[in-house]
Amino acid sequence: MNISETSDLLHNALDLGLEFKTRSAIFGRRGTAEEIRDLLVTDLPIQPTDAGTVLDDFRERVLPLCKNEASPRFLGFGDTGDDPLALAGSLLATLTQQNLINQSFDSPSATFIDIAVLRWLRELLGYSNLSASEVRTVWDVGGMITPGGTTSNTVAMMLAREAKAPGTMQSGVTDPGRFAIVVPEGIGHYSVRAALTWIGCGAQIIEVPTMGFRYDRIELARALRRHHDRVMAVIAYAGDSRTQTVDYLRAIHDLVRAVDPTIWLHADACWGLLAAFTPTLRRKIDGIANFDSITVDPHKILAVPYSSSALLVRDPATVRSISTYSDLIMQEDFAFGQITPFLGTREWTSLKLWMMLRGRGRSGLAQLAERRCDAAQRFAALVDAHPRLVRLNAPDLAAVVFAYLPIGIEAEPPVDRCALDRINNLNLAIHARMLAEGTWHLHQFTMRDDLGRLHGGATLHPLRFMAGNLAITETHMHELLEYLEILACDIEGDRT
Ligand SMILES: Cc1ncc(COP(=O)(O)O)c(C=O)c1O
Repeated sequence: MNISETSDLLHNALDLGLEFKTRSAIFGRRGTAEEIRDLLVTDLPIQPTDAGTVLDDFRERVLPLCKNEASPRFLGFGDTGDDPLALAGSLLATLTQQNLINQSFDSPSATFIDIAVLRWLRELLGYSNLSASEVRTVWDVGGMITPGGTTSNTVAMMLAREAKAPGTMQSGVTDPGRFAIVVPEGIGHYSVRAALTWIGCGAQIIEVPTMGFRYDRIELARALRRHHDRVMAVIAYAGDSRTQTVDYLRAIHDLVRAVDPTIWLHADACWGLLAAFTPTLRRKIDGIANFDSITVDPHKILAVPYSSSALLVRDPATVRSISTYSDLIMQEDFAFGQITPFLGTREWTSLKLWMMLRGRGRSGLAQLAERRCDAAQRFAALVDAHPRLVRLNAPDLAAVVFAYLPIGIEAEPPVDRCALDRINNLNLAIHARMLAEGTWHLHQFTMRDDLGRLHGGATLHPLRFMAGNLAITETHMHELLEYLEILACDIEGDRT
């Protein structure tokens, strides 16, 4: 390696990345999937290309088409990934090339950074930790770092399966009827359903009706009694993937344990981790520490680059039930490869989180959480004050879900089927235009109108604002609303 040339190359790459991240535009250029395919899916060159040319090619052909989630106009799904220390951690993890599968020679210190971060997350959520000197093996830690919420939830489902039918890891699933999970209807994240299929249980989902994007607990109790023997786990959301509503975790815990204390309780706190940082917000996740497992996704809420997730377990020893032993993984006390299903070689994703959490400290994290939630409340107030917008959730965290009303339609529930169709069509058209233009970004999905703001239970295609970017000012919010007005006016004008 020529240090000076490599250093120049890396500095150039860094400058390019920072220039990209700090520009206000989301996209440099838009193109259809086919155009981009034809631009980029090319043959491998026979001759070498010098580094400068490769970087230039990336700058000209690839980068302009990339989406910049750190733009204050990017108000949809995805986090900024722009915390400076998290970026530094990400770069250093790449440069140091540690492998978290083993400890002694593969990641002598990195393993303990994983452990430190996992213990911080556990403590923030209320799980108890052994003293550091009592942590003698990976089975004393109580968690693992994974690449994302989907993996974390899948590991949780494996733990639930082993708790329900010990030894299934070896014997295989013999009686799949026993492995059903309970989820809130319409707001469960697809990852738990997918997890059941991946781990051989079959997609046995018992959906329980909701009220205001939380379990209807009378229905939950009824479902547990009705399906008693089949239920392996109950999933509760500390921030569902559409509205980020935090369920009443303590009440769910008490209810489930009273019916059957052996049911595995899993909290998906991919979004809800944000609430762990301030005493006021923490009240929202009260009871979470009684759950058997918790998924958290720092890459969704802490401005850390992709990817970074963790699965935490109340009782660290439960992880033994899903451990893997092989002579290719060191049989040493701190080899994480023994307890991380699906993952062998594993990069050092905890370093960016460790640097970010250390750098901010508890007070900085509280400030970050409060600022995100405050921005969501400010935007919610603007939505409420706007004559053509109707808000569809009561923001617990950083998401505001709303719909744009076509001319002549009032938000007076229940609006009729024809009006609902017009509302959905307008919001779909707004989102399609927004995606095509790429100057602003909001998220869109289907969702049931659980608060009955337009028509209780109706399927809606709303827009969602996410307050993940601390650079979003009140001016951006007003500009966004003006942009939506222009789009709505154009679309409605085209239709009349
Ligand atoms: C509630 C919830 N759980 C799990 C996931 C999956 O996370 P990931 O995309 O990191 O795998 C998501 C993603 O949006 C989510 O919203």
